[in-house]
Amino acid sequence: MNNCSQAPQSAVTRAAAAAYLDSWDEAGMDWDAWIAETERAREEFAGLIGAEAGDVALATSVSQATASVATGLDFGGGRSRVVVSGAEFPTVAHVWCAQKRFGADVSWVPVRDGAVELEDYEAAIDERTAVVSACTAYYQTGFRQDVGAIAEIAHAAGALLYVDAYQTLGSGPFHAPTSGADFVASGALKFLMGTPGIAFVWVRPGLAERLRPAITGWFGRSDPFAFDARRLDWADDARRLDTGTPPILEAYVARAAMAWLREIGLDAIGAWTAHLARRCSDGARARRLTVLGPTDPTRRGPTTAIACAESHAVEAALRRRGVLASARGPAIRLAPHFYSSEEDVDRALDALAAEMGARA
Ligand SMILES: Cc1ncc(COP(=O)(O)O)c(C=O)c1O
Repeated sequence: MNNCSQAPQSAVTRAAAAAYLDSWDEAGMDWDAWIAETERAREEFAGLIGAEAGDVALATSVSQATASVATGLDFGGGRSRVVVSGAEFPTVAHVWCAQKRFGADVSWVPVRDGAVELEDYEAAIDERTAVVSACTAYYQTGFRQDVGAIAEIAHAAGALLYVDAYQTLGSGPFHAPTSGADFVASGALKFLMGTPGIAFVWVRPGLAERLRPAITGWFGRSDPFAFDARRLDWADDARRLDTGTPPILEAYVARAAMAWLREIGLDAIGAWTAHLARRCSDGARARRLTVLGPTDPTRRGPTTAIACAESHAVEAALRRRGVLASARGPAIRLAPHFYSSEEDVDRALDALAAEMGARA
């Protein structure tokens, strides 16, 4: 039940990791095959979000992907403002704050009752705004944002929209080109069922040419194998945001996991995770637990956050009862996925209610 934090290992991902380890063991080095696999991971991520591989950059974390985008932007020309939603995972906000020394000034859109309202984006975004940073769903409450509506507000003011999709990607369909976002980043270890160490960022076609990231490396060049130390040229697509040697083992795992999710079907996964999320929040309320964030199911992502002051102690106690949940701040998060059953949800809620009742 903790896919909002780390998805479980599967036979598919274990076999993918073994394929790399076998290749390394048997061949010693098989660089071409390994790099080809990282390209397949890029293609798979692109396919998952309805995009082209050339519009996707590889990173090792969302932090790094965000920093590549942020340091590639220009905060001059009267557009120095970065509007950051209070629902961003701290790492993303930290990267924007670090741009202050390059001329950026950061303003915040508040979280109210576990959600961020469109009128607050309207108030914060103006013609001084270079970029707006808004996640698809808030890691703390499970609140799902309306990316399209935020994009309209940002674009009307001439600003770009950066979206961190980590808390939802893999839990249902997401089509980057029609989402309104200009950048979409995600790591692999949550609903994408992969491991830490790899992340991806999609760049709207035509935008990459404007970026000159200060975080760079040989894989960001037009020909990484030119070995010309003095020449800082830029790959002509999103690959210019690539940096050093790619995360190969992680790419094996991520590609296999994403191919598997696509084979199952993101529409079917989305319908099931929405059904289970609803069962989670309805079931929590029926057990007199407090669900954080909006009650409207259309404003909720796949994760249900339940208020719990001693969340880490309760997480450990649930683990002893055979339920893997995720403590975050003053909440226990339940994040079932396509493989979860209604019985899993009910069992987790029963265990949580019993554990919290015992502590009341
Ligand atoms: C929405 C979101 N963004 C970013 C991160 C972390 O990003 P990274 O550790 O890959 O930089 C997390 C959680 O780990 C998250 O939930």
